[in-house]
Amino acid sequence: MKPIKVGLLGLGTVGTGVVRIVEGHQEDLTNQVGSPIVIAQILVKDRAKARNIQVDASKLTEDPWEVVRNPDIDVIIEVMGGIGQTKEYILEALERGKHIVTANKDLMALHGQEILAKARDKGCDVYYEASVAGGIPIIRTLIEGFSSDRITKIMGIVNGTTNYILTKMSQEGAAYADVLKEAQDLGYAEGDPTSDVEGLDAARKMTILSTLGFRSHVSLEDVSAKGISSVTQEDIQYAKRLGYEVKLLGIAERQDDFISVSVQPTMIKQSHPIASVNGVFNAVYVHGEAVGETMFYGAGAGELPTATSIVADLVAVVKNMKLGVNGRQAQLSYNVMKLKTDEQIASKFFLLLHVEDRAGVLAQIAQVFSDCDVSIESVMQPSAPNKMSTEIIIITHEASKASMNKVLGAFEGLAAVRKIKSVYRVEG
Ligand SMILES: NC(=O)c1ccc[n+]([C@@H]2O[C@H](COP(=O)([O-])OP(=O)(O)OC[C@H]3O[C@@H](n4cnc5c(N)ncnc54)[C@H](OP(=O)(O)O)[C@@H]3O)[C@@H](O)[C@H]2O)c1
Repeated sequence: MKPIKVGLLGLGTVGTGVVRIVEGHQEDLTNQVGSPIVIAQILVKDRAKARNIQVDASKLTEDPWEVVRNPDIDVIIEVMGGIGQTKEYILEALERGKHIVTANKDLMALHGQEILAKARDKGCDVYYEASVAGGIPIIRTLIEGFSSDRITKIMGIVNGTTNYILTKMSQEGAAYADVLKEAQDLGYAEGDPTSDVEGLDAARKMTILSTLGFRSHVSLEDVSAKGISSVTQEDIQYAKRLGYEVKLLGIAERQDDFISVSVQPTMIKQSHPIASVNGVFNAVYVHGEAVGETMFYGAGAGELPTATSIVADLVAVVKNMKLGVNGRQAQLSYNVMKLKTDEQIASKFFLLLHVEDRAGVLAQIAQVFSDCDVSIESVMQPSAPNKMSTEIIIITHEASKASMNKVLGAFEGLAAVRKIKSVYRVEG
């Protein structure tokens, strides 16, 4: 049996896991695909670096072109990260007829269409299961499992770092800055956490999920993103009193021919299954017109969970090779859907206001909502923090962001409203 030869770009956390799984599960893999799988060459930045795994030193190279231009290699597994140069390596490998498996959400969110188009032209496969929610097979599920249904909503906790921070804040009453520091010390958060905590990482993953779920191309610029850096302990405690948890949710919705995709800290009803997804775990909730509610839960990152998805992709590529059907994946973005602007996205809202503590204030506030055509679901007045002002919590019925912005604008000019403390989207 002629072995299938793999070129591995990167031998960090995920690359090490890929080597472990390919070597440790060799017998199972050979039985499934009908050939041994061999990691023939490995790209690293520094060959002299100490590794967590023993590999034949002669397989290591610091020259990317040596791997992508190696005529013996059938499949490239890209687990080096990066965007610009990495795209060049992948396009070159495709040009030479090699199939690609990648874990790179940044690359797929930004250049996925170009890479997939090139793959189609060259009759090659590109699989990228590990790029969203690490060990959860959500991409395959959206493409295959939902092929007969029409997805109306996808909600994802797709960033483990922010979910870890919000869980700690909720369960231990800790402050945002303290938990972020702890997450950095434990290696759950990067030294520069901006991409995670400001929602950009989640937005990139939602770009991929919504493109697949709605079968319509969504670009990163179409996804409005807000992170968790302004979430306070006070907001979380109020949410809990009202029966909600605060989660960083990516939310993609479809209404007729319109779709919307956004990422924001959201108050989600505690009874919703996604509200109980805690710590570094990820989950993706998918609602299909026919199937109803489904949810997929698991490890969103880590050496072996991520490598499991990558090697499963490798198995799919090799099976396609055996059948001679590489590059025949159907065109997935065949719908042309209109995108709602951020202002058109509708949801329920939570507002926490500091207002003057005197008669008639509530009536003035209610009038603003009425003037802006936003109806109120409930109002709560917790105990007053000081004698001069009091807090009011309002949950609205569904309203567009444009209407909500009008309400907030009107409050800016209303003397009775001392401060708009927090505004959250509400789900569930
Ligand atoms: N970590 C996870 O749990 C996870 C989960 C899902 C997806 N991903 C994605 O998987 C990819 C890899 O993540 P990782 O955590 O494994 O990263 P990592 O630990 O930093 O490893 C990166 C590897 O790539 C090599 N490398 C990087 N730039 C290079 C260059 N310019 N030339 C040659 N080699 C280069 C590094 O070489 P040296 O070892 O010599 O430095 C290292 O072996 C990223 O796209 C990430 O977003 C990661």
